[in-house]
Amino acid sequence: MAGKLENKIALVTGASKGIGRATVELFAEHGAEVFCPARSIDKLEELKSSLEKKGAKIHIKQTDLGKPSDINELFRFISANAEHLDTVVNAAGTFKRGRIDQIAESDFDEIININLKAAYLICQHAIPLLLKSGNGTIVNISSLSGCFGLQKFDGFGPYDISKYGLWGLTEILDVELKEKNIRVNQISPSGVDTEMHYRAFGPESNPPLTPRDVARVVLYLASDESAPLSGENLRLFGK
Ligand SMILES: NC(=O)c1ccc[n+]([C@@H]2O[C@H](COP(=O)([O-])OP(=O)(O)OC[C@H]3O[C@@H](n4cnc5c(N)ncnc54)[C@H](OP(=O)(O)O)[C@@H]3O)[C@@H](O)[C@H]2O)c1
Repeated sequence: MAGKLENKIALVTGASKGIGRATVELFAEHGAEVFCPARSIDKLEELKSSLEKKGAKIHIKQTDLGKPSDINELFRFISANAEHLDTVVNAAGTFKRGRIDQIAESDFDEIININLKAAYLICQHAIPLLLKSGNGTIVNISSLSGCFGLQKFDGFGPYDISKYGLWGLTEILDVELKEKNIRVNQISPSGVDTEMHYRAFGPESNPPLTPRDVARVVLYLASDESAPLSGENLRLFGK
């Protein structure tokens, strides 16, 4: 069976664990060459080694998305190793609980910087490389918490605000890039079985989705199968 991303080059943030890692694994199974940034270099090295044993081409780069200089460095690395990008997945994210009248300003800044500003900067740097592909896709990972009109949870303020902002990024990029043949979509999952979920909802919670469930939808949006879908927010409620 031919892979759905044969000869495609992807960048997946949050590659070290959770949804990002599951996406890298699935993309590699489908023939993509993948650039993988995250802070946990040991986890990235282990991922690269396990996927390269199966014939995949994986590039890893230690990157703190909270530092714009690290994002500049990441794109210098990508440009030194690839002439274009076909797909960008913004899967990195962070969560901290705290009511708006209690949470520290520094925590608010960190959440906005990772969940929103870093995705913005990644897209800004990636657009020239996606244009070279002639047929690029961007997939942003948001959350049901960032969807208008759905149930909200006490203490999720800065996280929810960051994800509402991400929808603004998705919508405006769709407008600006549609005519340039870059499709931009977003996925908003319910609870996913990752470290972040248990940090947010506690060890006893029972998330309805696996990282692989979400990765399958990322693959759909990244591949030609989903054309001409653009500017959409796919909400995943799970079982
Ligand atoms: N889990 C859920 O229930 C759920 C539900 C809805 C939406 N989401 C969203 O799904 C996305 C992925 O979350 P997840 O559940 O897979 O979380 P996770 O398992 O905690 O993984 C988070 C990823 O983001 C990376 N990251 C965090 N801060 C970073 C930084 N400063 N610089 C670089 N990378 C950073 C982490 O890498 P390092 O720590 O190695 O840097 C890790 O790879 C997030 O955007 C999250 O908001 C999750």
